Amino acid sequence: MTSERNVWKIDKAGRLDRLQPVREDVGPLPSGEVRVRVHAVGLNFADVFALAGLYSATPEGAFVPGLEVCGEVVEIGAAVAEGLRVGDRVMGVTRFGGYVDQLDLPPSRLRRLPEGWSWEQGAAFPVQTLTAWYGLETLGALQPGQRVLVHSAAGGVGLQALAICRKLGADSIGTVGSESKREFLRDRGHDRVIVRGRDFPEQLRRTLGDEPLHLVLDAVGGAVQRASLEALAPTGRLIVVGAAEFAPGRRRPRYLSSLWRYLRRPRYDPLELIPANRSVMAFNLIWLWEDEPLLIRLAGEIEALGLDAPHVGKVYPFGEAPAALEHLRSGRSVGKVVLSVQGA
Ligand SMILES: NC(=O)c1ccc[n+]([C@@H]2O[C@H](COP(=O)([O-])OP(=O)(O)OC[C@H]3O[C@@H](n4cnc5c(N)ncnc54)[C@H](OP(=O)(O)O)[C@@H]3O)[C@@H](O)[C@H]2O)c1
Repeated sequence: MTSERNVWKIDKAGRLDRLQPVREDVGPLPSGEVRVRVHAVGLNFADVFALAGLYSATPEGAFVPGLEVCGEVVEIGAAVAEGLRVGDRVMGVTRFGGYVDQLDLPPSRLRRLPEGWSWEQGAAFPVQTLTAWYGLETLGALQPGQRVLVHSAAGGVGLQALAICRKLGADSIGTVGSESKREFLRDRGHDRVIVRGRDFPEQLRRTLGDEPLHLVLDAVGGAVQRASLEALAPTGRLIVVGAAEFAPGRRRPRYLSSLWRYLRRPRYDPLELIPANRSVMAFNLIWLWEDEPLLIRLAGEIEALGLDAPHVGKVYPFGEAPAALEHLRSGRSVGKVVLSVQGA
């Protein structure tokens, strides 16, 4: 295996345009890890926040962004228990360091690529499916027949959330930021979709009518989140996974407007949640990477669901990572944005 690899690295979080391609040495494989030749890298909205310095878990100083990859096992550490073989096609998660063409990972962070899936589909699956599953099923305790509001439903997490709702027999209502995304979802058989407008609380009321809302998966924040919580029936759960309303500008954070939104962000008083009989929960998935038994259990539960391959909206060559990130940051992307490592 090569003693060098290609990576995308930023010297310090703050501006997306500081991300640079770098060639760096690769050391020996740690004995408890597996070396993967990466064929595709999944992009996540969290990468945009990390590069802008708006993500609390961002490493200090220089770092390589990226939370998930898909590729081929090329070497196995001496202390790795049986299970994986050289040549196996795998998808894996990493706590940063994913924008690379070669990566060492412990076996607990890897799963086999399902038969017939492309590298790009594999790179589009782990983070967003784990996010949707952990939010809806583990924290949200979603039951068949319950009604779920999924914000940014045409995005990576959103589409996986809709797919999980279908598998579990739950009824989903999606929200999106544009008419074209609503059409995209309609073509995929999702008829109940709100294009969020200024009158979102009223739109939601009209859509729900007398039907109870049991669960909300939110990554938008602000007034949209507040209205969603207020629409929940007693025992309803609001699961917060992000706050896209703070998305940075083309190159750097929008400090003033972000500060304004931050000051006006929803705040919840637990003493008011008791009589309303509603819950607010939140999580950051990358901390789960450290909980090996939980990660393995969740991955097993997801495998048992038998979800279809995820929707890859757009594929960019590995060398065009900045353009791919800009597409994701713009809020116009549909499904997953993936980097393809040609010639890997
Ligand atoms: N907590 C966790 O562990 C965890 C893990 C993974 C992802 N997440 C969060 O889940 C969300 C979805 O992640 P993803 O990677 O699948 O991204 P995505 O949904 O594919 O893309 C982000 C979406 O956010 C929406 N959005 C709302 N306001 C925006 C704004 N001001 N600028 C840009 N986009 C805006 C856009 O969709 P619409 O306009 O259609 O709503 C956009 O397409 C993100 O907020 C992410 O940070 C959290």
